[in-house]
Amino acid sequence: MAKLITKEQIAEQQRFIMKLREENARRAQEIGHAPLALTETYGCQQNENDTERIRGMLRDAGFEFTDDANKADVVIYNTCAVRENAEQKVFGRLGILKHIKEKRRDMIIGVCGCMVQQEHITEKIKKVHDHVDLVFGTHALYKMPSLLYKAMTEKKTVVDIAASDGAIAEELPIMRSDANKAWVSVMYGCNNFCSYCIVPYVRGRERSREPKTIIAEVKELVKSGCSEISLLGQNVNSYGKDLETDIDFADLMRAVNDIDGVRRIRFMTSHPKDLSDKLINTIAQCGKVCKQLHLPFQAGSDKVLRQMNRGYTKAEYLEKIEKVKKAVPNISLSTDVIVGFPTETNEDFEDTLDVLRKAEFDNIFSFIYSRREGTPAAKLDFVLTEEEIHRNFNRLLDTQNEISLKKNTEYVGRVEEILVDGVSKNDENMLSGRCDSSKIVNFKGDKSLIGKYINVRITEAHTWSLNGEIV
Ligand code: SAH
Ligand code: SF4
Ligand code: F3S
Repeated sequence: MAKLITKEQIAEQQRFIMKLREENARRAQEIGHAPLALTETYGCQQNENDTERIRGMLRDAGFEFTDDANKADVVIYNTCAVRENAEQKVFGRLGILKHIKEKRRDMIIGVCGCMVQQEHITEKIKKVHDHVDLVFGTHALYKMPSLLYKAMTEKKTVVDIAASDGAIAEELPIMRSDANKAWVSVMYGCNNFCSYCIVPYVRGRERSREPKTIIAEVKELVKSGCSEISLLGQNVNSYGKDLETDIDFADLMRAVNDIDGVRRIRFMTSHPKDLSDKLINTIAQCGKVCKQLHLPFQAGSDKVLRQMNRGYTKAEYLEKIEKVKKAVPNISLSTDVIVGFPTETNEDFEDTLDVLRKAEFDNIFSFIYSRREGTPAAKLDFVLTEEEIHRNFNRLLDTQNEISLKKNTEYVGRVEEILVDGVSKNDENMLSGRCDSSKIVNFKGDKSLIGKYINVRITEAHTWSLNGEIV
């Protein structure tokens, strides 16, 4: 069973939140307003969910929030390590902050999350970015109040990247980014060690939260008016394996499905090797579970899959997809694909395209392989040149765009229930929301509809979104 951060440890952090509050009240007198905090998130939904906890702690500590780094008293970057460009972005931002801090010496700069859980990165920050005051890894998130207090009052660099296997911290404050939709982490960490991936090293081993705690969190969310729940984990299909209670992810999903007030349930991510018939049937049978599945296949060639340590073949993956389509007609499918794994040849890549054509995903998340220090794949030599890899990547996008448009066109004429998110990103005269299968639908409507479920007839299909009109 996963270890919990003790009530005493949480209470100690609460005391630091109160101390920060006093300090901030004093500063507010001086500067005429509450001190301001800025947070930025660079990673996945779990990372976003962690930022919501960070913001909850900052809010309770008396900070207000800003998007302007020039005004912020505290800046916290919650980082990602999964690809090099995510890391480069953070280093770039830190460079900009250096100039801002030259004019505002009291500013506190904090970097947390997956990227700094790697020692070589923390060393680089210390050497090259000595204007950073606070560094804390994924396992030290709950300690942010005491670490921040130390950084603010003692004016010295504080680092906590202890590589414990992260006991679970329950009952941390939280400030959610959306009133109607919420992320609920059901487990942390990963045991799969895909050969290209840094996540198991920076997030530690799989730890499941107790079902009763998850259910209590969902009930609280419903009470506050939230109706769409996304259950999160690096591999939700392993949920419960480490618990004493006899429960798996399908059972947990049913329990959430039974909660009054929940209208939509989403979940991610599922690992193909662990996608059970029981889970497929549960998706089909539970009325509130959205008919949508994200099932990363990463590569089509059996050789590459083996070297990636994925635990399935191309044929086994496609078999699972067929099973899912049969059990849940019209299910919307998405996936992750990596192009340019070191040993991937042009011929191997044809297998990746073949999976796209056969599975017909509604959309894909595609990445060029990025070498991650400390992972087994980092030792492999590349077969293809960068140019060849980019060419394959573009072929992948072209192939998928055609399929996405075709899949979206099938929606034209259908009436879909939409949860209205807000004003459309592309056109301020339009509203935007998501249908059950998570496709973005843009339509004309009054802003009072934001946060409501409405029916929309789909009138037009694009590659990335749909247009519709209220019925
Ligand atoms: N646990 C999830 C998500 C992991 S990270 C899963 O297994 O599906 C999200 C995606 O990033 C992965 O699915 C993979 O496609 C991609 N990714 C991970 N490591 C990568 C690397 N070194 N280079 C490029 N893409 C990577
Ligand atoms: Fe990384 Fe594989 Fe774990 Fe996903 S399942 S987080 S890709 S090691
Ligand atoms: Fe997520 Fe990136 Fe960490 S994908 S788990 S934030 S390495």
